Amino acid sequence: TVLKTIAAAPLGAAVACSVRPSPAARPAGPRPLPIPPLAPSIVGADGVRRFSLDAAAGTSEMIAGKRTATWGFNGAILGPTLRARRGEKVAVAITNGLGEATTVHWHGMSIPAEFDGGPHQMIEPGGSTMPTWTVEQQAATLWYHPHPHGSTQRHVLRGLAGLFLVDDDASDSLGLPKTYGTDDIPLIIQDRRFTAAGAIDESDNSKIGSLGDTIITNGIADAYLTVSTGAVRLRILNGSSGRLYNLVFADNRRFDVVASDGGLLAAPAAMRRIQLSPGERAEIVVVLRAGENLTLTSSPIDDDGGVKRSDADRFGMTDRFDILRLRAQPRLTPSVATPSTLVPSAAIPTAGAVRRSFDLQWFMINRKRMDMNRIDFEARVGGTEVWTVTNKDNWPHNFHVHDAQFHIVDIDGRRPPAQLAGRKDTVYVPPGSRVRLALRWSTHADPMYPYMFHCHLLMHEDQGMMGQFLLLRPGQQAMPMNMP
Ligand code: C2O
Ligand code: CU
Repeated sequence: TVLKTIAAAPLGAAVACSVRPSPAARPAGPRPLPIPPLAPSIVGADGVRRFSLDAAAGTSEMIAGKRTATWGFNGAILGPTLRARRGEKVAVAITNGLGEATTVHWHGMSIPAEFDGGPHQMIEPGGSTMPTWTVEQQAATLWYHPHPHGSTQRHVLRGLAGLFLVDDDASDSLGLPKTYGTDDIPLIIQDRRFTAAGAIDESDNSKIGSLGDTIITNGIADAYLTVSTGAVRLRILNGSSGRLYNLVFADNRRFDVVASDGGLLAAPAAMRRIQLSPGERAEIVVVLRAGENLTLTSSPIDDDGGVKRSDADRFGMTDRFDILRLRAQPRLTPSVATPSTLVPSAAIPTAGAVRRSFDLQWFMINRKRMDMNRIDFEARVGGTEVWTVTNKDNWPHNFHVHDAQFHIVDIDGRRPPAQLAGRKDTVYVPPGSRVRLALRWSTHADPMYPYMFHCHLLMHEDQGMMGQFLLLRPGQQAMPMNMP
């Protein structure tokens, strides 16, 4: 090392004197976390709040200094955050400027099936559509992403995803951090692999699809967030294709989980770690000390279903990552303490509920692969159901249902932990485990367009681990759309 230092010194000095960094040169190292902009909207005389989303290809600097071809809505990667109030009617003008057909699905939203953005609502290149619906559900962090059958993983990996925040009176009146981008921070966590040339590697490298070695938050690697308030609310989305995260702060500090997929919990759950599978969301509130640096990390998965260590390694379940650095300013604006009660959600009555079971195995559900022309079941609007979902594989799956938010009844016979006791639309089903769900359908009857249920590990979904159902009024005849 001594020799090296001596040899390097004159060269280093010469460089320092004679070479000015070009204005484009950027110091390597962390960059500020990008905050997806709030989508502008116009409320017309008809009271409809109108947004627009234009999908197009672009170039992003996901890794500092590297240009990567990406897709985005209204920008090169990801999309703006849409925001509307419960009770509001919204319309989203979507155009597809990509070279291939895609869709925009409103994950977690209760929305008429014809506007759900599933695989039956393809938008051709150059085409457009305008889903229009009334937001009927409680405040929550929802998201939107493409859902073209067989290509969802590729479209999401290329960058298409964004958040949809629903507000309501209850969430407004609670003393939670709520200044978007200041103390109320959207955090879309994804993983990627890159080719030597800096392109996104879209190939599958595991039984759970494409597992990345680089963590991307809100579109970039190696991000930091400057914190100026005593508490910060993170609205976290696992927007990855197949990776599970077990989020924990580097010093193992406690934080409050205040919301899950479908909105605020009945009461905050004080936790030191929280696990999220692809598609799941959690809102957490963490308290910081002035001037400190705090890193949000991901640890090995706690609930690995007892898979062999070597298998867990191959499914990325034993990986550790730094996710985001939080840098607290030397002076912090005080925040109010997290309220001790939030929003209770009424239990879903299970007596007399329709019972169904779904076995997840080998890229199939109940031994069937997705068929766009097969309706797996018909359900009744407003009906209540109890579903038993079993992972019969020795690798991870999860389970997502369109239209409804559900309650987890039990996981392998045990009541769900507090952070999973609220409204959910996606649930992790560990290898070998059985999860029971209770749900109530909306009133969105449609004899033509089905809703989906599927594993939200996107490669599994693409491979056909998905089914479809129609929601019908009593006596209504099914007339399902036939797809070519
Ligand atoms: Cu987030 Cu059917 O999907
Ligand atoms: Cu799966």
